[in-house]
Amino acid sequence: MLIQAQSELLGAYSPVGPEVSFVNMLTLVRRCHSDALALIARLHDVDRIIGCLAWLPDHGARMAHGIGTYVDPAFRGTGVSTALRMMGIDRCRALGLRQVLGSVSIENLVGLKSCLDLGFNKVGWVVALKIPEKKP
Ligand SMILES: CC(C)(COP(=O)(O)OP(=O)(O)OC[C@H]1O[C@@H](n2cnc3c(N)ncnc32)[C@H](O)[C@@H]1OP(=O)(O)O)[C@@H](O)C(=O)NCCC(=O)NCCS
Repeated sequence: MLIQAQSELLGAYSPVGPEVSFVNMLTLVRRCHSDALALIARLHDVDRIIGCLAWLPDHGARMAHGIGTYVDPAFRGTGVSTALRMMGIDRCRALGLRQVLGSVSIENLVGLKSCLDLGFNKVGWVVALKIPEKKP
């Protein structure tokens, strides 16, 4: 399987089926932030998008904020997110950024491990509020 990750403006792409969600996410990100790193993983032979990554550069803080990485369930465990993130890290380095900050739910063991395997470190705590359905 040959995977290519590339950054592109997605306006010219006409997706069908499950790819719509990848493209919608990245199109929205690029519309709001023209300098966003928006990468897609595409299977060459069938021209199918199987994963995406979106990170927002913060040049002042010399870092990128991770918005998300998503891989088509049919292609998980095959190295897609690793390839996307490695390319994202290369792009950050080229932009002079020195850190990538993202949040992963503590229940998302696969997501957490996939980050730690790449060299990400746990750097702090995130607080979350469970909002009750009714006001107390
Ligand atoms: C988390 C996610 C992005 C991983 O993508 P992926 O392309 O399947 O990951 P990779 O194939 O590159 O694997 C990277 C590492 O993740 C871990 N991993 C991947 N799939 C796994 C599974 N089913 N069980 C346990 N660990 C797994 C492994 O540590 C793996 O490294 P290894 O193959 O050397 O053991 C993908 O599962 C996904 O899209 N999940 C839903 C959205 C999400 O959680 N996004 C990320 C938030 S941080």
